[in-house]
Amino acid sequence: MKVIAFVGSARRRHTCNATARFLDNLRSMGDVETEIVFLSDYHLEICRGCKLCTDKGEELCPLQDDRDALLAKLFAADGVVFATPNYSYNVSGRMKVFLDRLAFALHRPRCFGKAFTSIVVEAIYRGREIVKYLDFVAMGLGFNVVKGSLVKSLEPLTEKVRAANEGKIDRQSRKFYETLVKKELPAPSILKLLMFRWGRTSMRLMLDASFRDFTYYEQAGWWTADYFYPVRLGPLKRAVGRMVDGAVARRIKRQNPPKPVAGG
Ligand SMILES: Cc1cc2nc3c(=O)[nH]c(=O)nc-3n(C[C@H](O)[C@H](O)[C@H](O)COP(=O)(O)O)c2cc1C
Repeated sequence: MKVIAFVGSARRRHTCNATARFLDNLRSMGDVETEIVFLSDYHLEICRGCKLCTDKGEELCPLQDDRDALLAKLFAADGVVFATPNYSYNVSGRMKVFLDRLAFALHRPRCFGKAFTSIVVEAIYRGREIVKYLDFVAMGLGFNVVKGSLVKSLEPLTEKVRAANEGKIDRQSRKFYETLVKKELPAPSILKLLMFRWGRTSMRLMLDASFRDFTYYEQAGWWTADYFYPVRLGPLKRAVGRMVDGAVARRIKRQNPPKPVAGG
C-alpha cells in the first residue's frame, strides 16, 4: 500500500519531522510504501478562478504547471496526509494553492475507501481550526478521515512538549494504519448523507449535460443512488435522504431560479 504526504512547508523542520515520524511509524506497522511530497519542489500556479475545471473538466485548466503530476500521486495513493504549518491562523499559502487546484474534485469526489489524515504544526495557537478545515476538505474528497493532529513547535522545545508531540503522532499513525488496511466503505453520517443528497438533487435539477458535474454524476449512477457507493442505510437515514431529496426539489420548483451557465 502506498501513502503519500503532501507537505506545505518549504523548510525541512518541524512539519517535515512530524510527517517523517508519522510515515516511519506506518512502515514499521506493515507493508506500506511512503513518499513525502514537498509542494515547494513543484511548480504550482495560483488558481485564476475561471471555473473551467469545475464546470467543463479539469483537463481544460489553462495553467501549465505540475498540477497533474501532484494529482496523479494523490489519486493513486491508498492513503494521504496533508501536513502544513500554521501561517497566520491558516494553512500555508502553498497548501492553499494546492487545495484550490484540486477543488474540482470536491465537486466530483473519488477517494472512497482511502485513508486520510492531517498534521498541523504551530508555534502558538489556533491550529485546531486548521486541522478541522483540512479534515473537512478530505471528507469532501471522499476519504475515510482519521482526525488530524496539532503539533507544537515554539522553540526552545521542552522535553515535555516534544514527548507530547511524539505521543500524538504515534497514536495518530496507529489509527491511520487501521483505517488504511480496512479500506472500508462506511455507512455515511447524517451530515454526509445530507450533503450528498442535497448536492446531487440540486445538480440533477439545476444543471444539464453541458456541465462536467452533471455527466460525472450521471455516469456514476448517482441520480438514483442512496449514497456515493453501495451502502445499507437504516430506516432513519433512508427517511432523511428522501426528505432532503424532496425538500430540495420543492424549493427549486417553488423558487424557479435561473439555470446556471457553464463557464459563467
Ligand atoms: C509567515 C508565518 C506565519 C505564522 N503564523 C503563525 C500563527 O498564526 N500561529 C502560530 O501558532 N504560529 C505561526 N507561525 C509559526 C509556524 O507555524 C511555526 O514556526 C512552524 O513550526 C513552521 O513550520 P516549519 O517548522 O515546518 O517551517 C508562523 C510562521 C510563519 C513563517
